[in-house]
Amino acid sequence: MSNKKLNVAVVGAGIYGVNHIHAYLDNEHANLLAVCDFNEEIRKRVEKEFGVKTYSSVDEMLEKENLDAISVATPDAFHLDPTIAAIKKGLHVLVEKPLATTVEDAKKIVEAAKEYNVRVAVDYHKRWDPAAINVRNELRKADTGKIIRGYMSMDDVIDVPTKWFSWSDKSSPVHFLGTHCFDQIRWYTGCEVKSVYAVGCKRLLKSKGIDTYDSIQTLVEMEDDSYWTVENSWVFPSGFPKNNGGRTEILCDNTLFRLDSQNRGSEIFTNEKGKTPNSYFIIENNGRPYGFGIQPINDFVSCILNDLPFIADANDGLQAELIADAVHRSLEIGKPVVIEK
Ligand SMILES: NC(=O)c1ccc[n+]([C@@H]2O[C@H](COP(=O)([O-])OP(=O)(O)OC[C@H]3O[C@@H](n4cnc5c(N)ncnc54)[C@H](O)[C@@H]3O)[C@@H](O)[C@H]2O)c1
Repeated sequence: MSNKKLNVAVVGAGIYGVNHIHAYLDNEHANLLAVCDFNEEIRKRVEKEFGVKTYSSVDEMLEKENLDAISVATPDAFHLDPTIAAIKKGLHVLVEKPLATTVEDAKKIVEAAKEYNVRVAVDYHKRWDPAAINVRNELRKADTGKIIRGYMSMDDVIDVPTKWFSWSDKSSPVHFLGTHCFDQIRWYTGCEVKSVYAVGCKRLLKSKGIDTYDSIQTLVEMEDDSYWTVENSWVFPSGFPKNNGGRTEILCDNTLFRLDSQNRGSEIFTNEKGKTPNSYFIIENNGRPYGFGIQPINDFVSCILNDLPFIADANDGLQAELIADAVHRSLEIGKPVVIEK
């Protein structure tokens, strides 16, 4: 590890951006110089809780602070502007997933990074999940055999699109959750998606004034001739014991894999509700942030300082968005869509 410290800032300090703040403050190789958020209440909270300088304008922050890199944790459809502004200043960027909600935005980011010779990572944190890493390692063993078919689901409770965010209608279960699945399938198989065919339901959230899909089911054809079913919904009942559910099953010539990302081993029952928290994702450990949700942020710092490739980069973000876009087109036309090369 180099002795240099990376000067960083975080744009967007909402529910998830706070994890970036915690990670950078705890990382001895990073100096968190500033945080930028539109929301005054959030800026005041950040200043009080973390003692970090805040800005309401990305451009002003980039102008005044001597930064090497930033994290972008703005809502799904609003990653482009802060990312491009930072790239144009020669900064490296860690963008929250999904890289973008349109292919156009994703391509602009990839092209700008090339033009300004900076590096963009995407926070596909499932690539750091120990259970997923274990499966990927096993899939690479000759004895496992070829993948025949796979199933992957990732779902959120209905509170996520209805209570957590004001921007759910500008995203979808596929942009918010499905891109995680498509990224993981590419990472598991080591190959690209050939085509997708999707069906979906737009009723429950629409009846609540949120114009996005409740649920989307996608049949994914891979270049290795494996077929995957991916299910993503935003309407699991509020009483579900975790904010999200998820299952994976992969059938190979000689092996069957099953993963449960909802019940990760700890069950907590109170008089009100049973809970199954993910102890491996982001937890506080002796006052320090810990888990596979924190590791990608630490790796971003170390990959830049040590000139190492990112585990998930802008091209991975673009590929996931090409697939998500094809899923949405398939939903519209009711036919399979071939992924653009
Ligand atoms: N919430 C989760 O569980 C979760 C998990 C993983 C990844 N993510 C991803 O993280 C990103 C942020 O999600 P969130 O849950 O934190 O959303 P959020 O709505 O809680 O927070 C977004 C914040 O960005 C600020 N903002 C928006 N545009 C801005 C701009 N141009 N400049 C400065 N501030 C701006 C808003 O004021 C808000 O505080 C999303 O892309 C999401 O998919 C979220």
